[in-house]
Formats: sequence, C-alpha cells, structure tokens
Amino acid sequence: MENFELIDFNEIEPKERYKLMSENIIPRPIAWIVTENNGIINLAPFSYFTGISSKPPLLMVSIGRRKPGFDEPKDTFKNIKETKKASVCLVPFEMTEIMNKTGEVLPHEISEAQKFDIELEKVDNNFPPIVKGCKRAFLTTLYGTFENEEMATIPFFLEIKKMYFEGDFEPAVRVGKGYARLCETEIEDEND
Ligand SMILES: Cc1cc2nc3c(=O)[nH]c(=O)nc-3n(C[C@H](O)[C@H](O)[C@H](O)COP(=O)(O)O)c2cc1C
Repeated sequence: MENFELIDFNEIEPKERYKLMSENIIPRPIAWIVTENNGIINLAPFSYFTGISSKPPLLMVSIGRRKPGFDEPKDTFKNIKETKKASVCLVPFEMTEIMNKTGEVLPHEISEAQKFDIELEKVDNNFPPIVKGCKRAFLTTLYGTFENEEMATIPFFLEIKKMYFEGDFEPAVRVGKGYARLCETEIEDEND
C-alpha cells in the first residue's frame, strides 16, 4: 500500500487547513507591526508574512477579519487602510514571549504597547515608531490589497521606504504554533 494521503482542502475545515499550512510551510518570519491612528499606537504580530519583490520593494502581510461573520477588521487592518503606513519590525528571539502577548485581542482604544509596557522608539518622523530592541524594521506605505468577499484573510502589499538596521540580529521564527531559532547552514547558492 502507498504510504501517503492526498488531502482535499475542500473537504477540511479552515482550522485544519491552517494547521497543515502553518506546520509545513516553515519557518515563518514574524512581522511585529506598529500602526498609529488618532494618537493611539497599535502593535500586533503576523506570520502570514513574507518579502515578495525588490522592484518595487514589497512585502506581504495577510491580515484576518474578526469573527463573527469576519466583518470587523483587526486594528492593524483598519489603521493601515486609514493611514496607509506601517512600521514592520522583525522580532529578536529574546523578545518572543512579549511579542506573543501582543497577539491578544484588545479594544481599539487600548494600546498593546502601553498594556504590556513595551518601549517604542521614533526613528523617522513620517512613520509610526518601532519596538525598541528590534534590530531590523521596515518603514512602509500601503501599495495595495487583494480583497474579495470570500477571503477571511486579506493580503496587504506594503512598500518598503526605509529600513532600520542595527548590529547583529537573531530572529524568532514560527513553526506551527511554536517558535524556533534558525541554525547555521554551510550550503550556499552558487547561482546567486
Ligand atoms: C505569532 C503570531 C502570528 C500571527 N499571525 C497572524 C497573521 O498572519 N494574520 C492575522 O490576521 N493574525 C495573526 N495573528 C493574530 C493577531 O496578532 C491578533 O489577531 C491580534 O489581536 C491582531 O491585533 P490588532 O487587532 O491590534 O491588529 C498572529 C498572532 C501571533 C501571536
């Protein structure tokens, strides 16, 4: 007997699809996104996140709508739509625990940074601050979204305008529901 399954994604629930995708498309980097709207700073992590183009320099973050009915946008979703700006921080491994806490759903008017006592740092007057201690961050503007009625999670394409870069950096990555660190490899791409 063959030792494999062919799983029909139409026949499984979205939760099961998420499990299969997040445990197998790995590791996933984490975008810790700072947005600012009417003076309130919002901070939230996203791991449907990747770089997609260098010309123009674009990254993609997929942001869910909230239940019930998926009609209520997450704060990050609403803020980027309204202000067209986001500071996308990469998470140093030592900040994994505190980053994870900011995934909690809070009312719109409450800042995760304030609630969890996370220090922010203004590095450019035209963009939201970054999380202090994040050694890499992208200051971005909204390039576009891809939306339709069927989609519970909407891809946001963000254009990188500036990159904050400071010293050595070891990123936290997501594997399934857990977190991991990367190890060194000696294999190099000779075609690059
Ligand atoms: C590590 C991690 C990764 C996450 N990735 C995503 C994601 O890719 N898309 C998403 O919609 N929510 C994701 N979430 C959940 C959001 O962070 C969570 O819904 C958060 O409350 C949204 O905050 P906001 O309403 O302040 O924007 C993730 C949570 C964690 C802890």
